[in-house]
Amino acid sequence: MQLEILQGDITTRDVDAIVNAANSSLMGGGGVDGAIHRAAGRELLTACMEVREQQYPDGLPVGQAVATPGFSLPSRWVIHTVGPNRHAGQRDPELLASCFRESLKVAVSLGARSVAFPAIGAGVYGWDAREVATVALDAVRRFGAEKSSGLELVEFVLFSTETTEIFRSVFEASAG
Ligand code: APR
Repeated sequence: MQLEILQGDITTRDVDAIVNAANSSLMGGGGVDGAIHRAAGRELLTACMEVREQQYPDGLPVGQAVATPGFSLPSRWVIHTVGPNRHAGQRDPELLASCFRESLKVAVSLGARSVAFPAIGAGVYGWDAREVATVALDAVRRFGAEKSSGLELVEFVLFSTETTEIFRSVFEASAG
């Protein structure tokens, strides 16, 4: 499994699945969630409403993941996960690791070969980008090492130059 770090807008990535840093309501929001809903079109909100009705009437729990189609996005699927909100006292990095792990499990169950992640938790939810990078890279590497998953490529698509540099430095420091 190849790991790549790049700067850009995740909504433009032509991968099998992109991961959304959603909230439990799955009804959209700001940040990357808003960008994904805008680029996917209204059908994404309708699909999220169906997921709520059929699978998660009380909302998607923190650390869990669920998929919908990608509709107008280049990616075939969107995998929605909910990061821990530090501002609400959710400070356990294990919950953040779970977002990456559970998203990859969903990706594998869909038969996805390529997946793109944003820096889950590093925006509105208040996590330090370096901690997100450390947790994310560790979780993804462990998943890749343990499972014969069919996953060929996992990308981290970071919006800002600063976050991209942080991910790169954590990646290089922990490589090998
Ligand atoms: N592509 C890639 N990354 C992006 C994009 C984009 N188009 N837009 C924003 N980002 C980056 C942010 O710069 C940040 O580094 O995604 C990272 C995660 O930030 P948020 O989107 O704020 O996600 P999070 O911290 O997990 O907070 C989730 O925000 O909008 C709400 O509905 C969402 O309530 C939930 C909360």
